[in-house]
Amino acid sequence: MNTEFIPIIQEIESFVASGATKSEILLNTCKLLKDKVYHYDWVGFYLLDERFSNLVLDSYAGKPTEHTMIPVGKGVCGQVAESCKLKIVQDVSQEGNYIACSIDVQSEIVVPILKEGKFVAEIDIDSHSPSPFTPDDEMFLTSICQKLSVLF
Ligand code: SME
Repeated sequence: MNTEFIPIIQEIESFVASGATKSEILLNTCKLLKDKVYHYDWVGFYLLDERFSNLVLDSYAGKPTEHTMIPVGKGVCGQVAESCKLKIVQDVSQEGNYIACSIDVQSEIVVPILKEGKFVAEIDIDSHSPSPFTPDDEMFLTSICQKLSVLF
């Protein structure tokens, strides 16, 4: 993994161990990732509300979005909630099932948080750069989601 990512993972581990609430830990993670990784321009966590098959926006860093509730299956976020698999869209203009949040967004990565194999939440990252995501981002964000899964 990119060595620049290692101290970020360590900081997130310390957030998890801090005894802060889930939302505080998720918010600190959003702020840290947006601040430290150049191509992460909006970082947020959507949590599954099973009763209504909806994703509900919890903490985020970046511009406010009107998409605070997303039905499972809809948009990139909803697709990941259904498949339980990480999804990268390197060019959002080419994605048919996409919910636009801002005209500045060019690409997006969504990584599921699984608890005992079951989807519970996801991290959603928008980028203003074209095609910025690499296998390093996949490894980095998958590791973070695994560490955060203990909060659920
Ligand atoms: N683009 C997402 C919607 C959420 S915003 O990026 C904050 C999607 O297609 O699901």
